[in-house]
Amino acid sequence: MIQILENISLKPFNSFGIHALAKSFCSVSSIIEMQELLEWNKIQNNPLLILGGGSNLLFTKDYNGLVLQNALKGIELIREDHENYYVKAMAGENWHQFVCYCVQMQYQGIENMSLIPGNVGASPMQNIGAYGVEIKDVFESLEAIQISDGAVVTFNNTACEFGYRESIFKRLLRNQFIILSVVFKLRKTPVYNTSYGNIEQELINMKEQQPSIRSIAEAVIRIRQRKLPDPSKIGNAGSFFKNPIIPTGLYEELKKENKNIPGYAVNNGDYTKVPAAWLIEQTGWKGFRIGDAGCYPLQPLVLVNYGNATGAEIFNLSTQIIEKVQAHFGIQLEREVNIY
Ligand code: EPU
Repeated sequence: MIQILENISLKPFNSFGIHALAKSFCSVSSIIEMQELLEWNKIQNNPLLILGGGSNLLFTKDYNGLVLQNALKGIELIREDHENYYVKAMAGENWHQFVCYCVQMQYQGIENMSLIPGNVGASPMQNIGAYGVEIKDVFESLEAIQISDGAVVTFNNTACEFGYRESIFKRLLRNQFIILSVVFKLRKTPVYNTSYGNIEQELINMKEQQPSIRSIAEAVIRIRQRKLPDPSKIGNAGSFFKNPIIPTGLYEELKKENKNIPGYAVNNGDYTKVPAAWLIEQTGWKGFRIGDAGCYPLQPLVLVNYGNATGAEIFNLSTQIIEKVQAHFGIQLEREVNIY
């Protein structure tokens, strides 16, 4: 039996810790319940918001519709071959707990993505990534329910049209499907990726002679804990902006005036990815605080709620940052976080 609650505060359900009311709220833990709820909502004709871990959204006002919390649970090894384990995780599993499970089971491939906030179901949505690895590298398939008719559809890697923090579910199929479960293809013989950031240095600090699934996970956790705020203490949604990708010609122009501007070649060098953190720091925002809304002093890509900021205050701060970076560098920052 589904239980629909009215006028619920969403504060416990978003990692920014923003108070906003949902007109209706329902947590579902089976596909049958989900189909039932979608039927109910069709009759109500309410707007629908799918909530995973609530770690990639910002409420700027009350939500005048139904918030569906996807609480489907379970992890299962569905098959294996010579090289791979195929592990299915339900959408409502916490991402980091799933990573920890795989580390413990010696399923290799997602340890670089330790401690990313959020749930498994949201991971393909924006092709989450960290330290040189992203979901698309380990993704086999997913099952999703079509909101219009309750049909369950399977998507393989190509069908998801993954890009940098992008997938078909953020573009063409936006708001049309609810992800139910994801199958990950994880390796039996490890291929480690320690080249990105300071993982290698961290392993040395940890006095690890050889990288292992466990030691890389541990290194990533240590690095992230040092520079990213813990959402249970300081409200935040991870990176608030995407790293902008600009034509390399423009990057070369900017480099004449800004000798230290970092950039990473993408698309065979036609484009360059510039760290948003650098642009934000250069325009003076790093550590900036107005009321309880702020730009985190250790990683300016992350906007934070120090306590009682409203979503509108955080949104306004993000607009000011976008405008200043645009005026100074001519680069348009794009929000990574979904705004409601
Ligand atoms: N930088 C600064 N000032 C700072 C911090 C960073 O100028 O205070 C510049 C430096 O040039 C640094 C560069 O930014 O080399 C990159 O910084 P970092 O390695 O911390 O990564 P990022 O590009 O800022 C991305 C992801 C993070 C992910 C890290 C590590 C995006 C939008 N963000 O951040 O993802 O953890 O790489 O792989 O791609 C998230 O999505 O929520 C998230 C935290």
